[in-house]
Amino acid sequence: MHRSHESVSGGFTETASDYEDAVRFNIEGAQRLVLSIPPGRYDDVLDVGCGTGWAAQAVIDRFHPARITGVDPAEGMLEKFQAKLGGLEGVDVTLAKADVEHMPVADASFDLVVCSMAYHWFPRKWEAAAAMARALKPGGVVAILMSGRGGEQAYRDVISNIEPINYRWVGAFDGNLRSVPEMEDYLVQAGLEPVDIWMETRVRHTTVEAYMERMRVVAGHMIGDQSEAEVAEYVAKIEAGLRARSGPRGWSYEFAKLFAIARKPA
Ligand SMILES: C[S@@+](CC[C@H](N)C(=O)[O-])C[C@H]1O[C@@H](n2cnc3c(N)ncnc32)[C@H](O)[C@@H]1O
Repeated sequence: MHRSHESVSGGFTETASDYEDAVRFNIEGAQRLVLSIPPGRYDDVLDVGCGTGWAAQAVIDRFHPARITGVDPAEGMLEKFQAKLGGLEGVDVTLAKADVEHMPVADASFDLVVCSMAYHWFPRKWEAAAAMARALKPGGVVAILMSGRGGEQAYRDVISNIEPINYRWVGAFDGNLRSVPEMEDYLVQAGLEPVDIWMETRVRHTTVEAYMERMRVVAGHMIGDQSEAEVAEYVAKIEAGLRARSGPRGWSYEFAKLFAIARKPA
C-alpha cells in the first residue's frame, strides 16, 4: 500500500473512538448527501472510505438495500462500522480493509457507490474516480461529498505564519480540497455523466478547543513526522494563533463542502 494511505488510515485508526463526537458535521453531511441521490432501487451499495458507517446508515434508512459493502483502510473505523451495522436485519454487510484504488470488488457490480468525506484524502483523485466508476453497473449512481476549495482559510492563515513553516501541513490543504469544475473533470474522465455538483460554504462558530479536537481527530496525523515534543510545540503555537484571532463569539471559520452526483451511462 502507498505510504500516504498508511499514514492517513493509521491516523483514522488511532482516533476512531473519538471520531463520532468530534465530527458531527460529517454525520449530517452524509445524511444530506444521501437525500440528494435520485430516487430509485439500489440493491447493491458500495461505501468507499466508509469509516464508522454514517453514509451507509443513511443509505440503509432511505433505500433499504439488500447488500452493502464498506471499504476503508483503517481497521479501527471498520471495527466501529461492524459494531454499528454488522448485526442489522435485512441487509448483508461486507467489510474490506482496502484503499480506494485496490478495492476487492467486482467490476460493474454496484447500483450505488457512496463516498462521504473521504475523497479529499485520496492521493490520486483521477484513479479514485476511475475505480469507483468501474465498480458501478451501467445506469448506476455515484454520490460523493468532500471538503471543498476555499474552506478553512482562517486556519490556513494561522498555520502558514507559524515558524519554522511546516510545508507538509500547509500544503495538505491544497492537496486535499477541490472545486466544482475539478470534480466535474474527475467524473467525466471516469466515463460518468454528472447529474448535480455543488458547493456549500458556511461560517461555523465554535470554540478553539472544539476546533483543535476536530483537527486532531480527522487530520492530526498529517501535521508531521517530527518528535512528539516538536508536534506538541507546533500544536501549542496553532492554538495560540487561533486564540489571537478569536473574537468575542469564539473561533469562526469558513468551511466548504463539495457534493457530486453522477451516473454511469446505461
Ligand atoms: C472523515 S472519515 C469519513 C468516514 C465516513 N464516510 C463518514 O462519512 O463518516 C474519512 C475516511 O476515509 C478513509 N480513507 C482515507 N484514505 C483512504 C483511501 N485511500 N481509500 C479509502 N478510504 C480512505 C479513512 O480511513 C476514514 O475512515
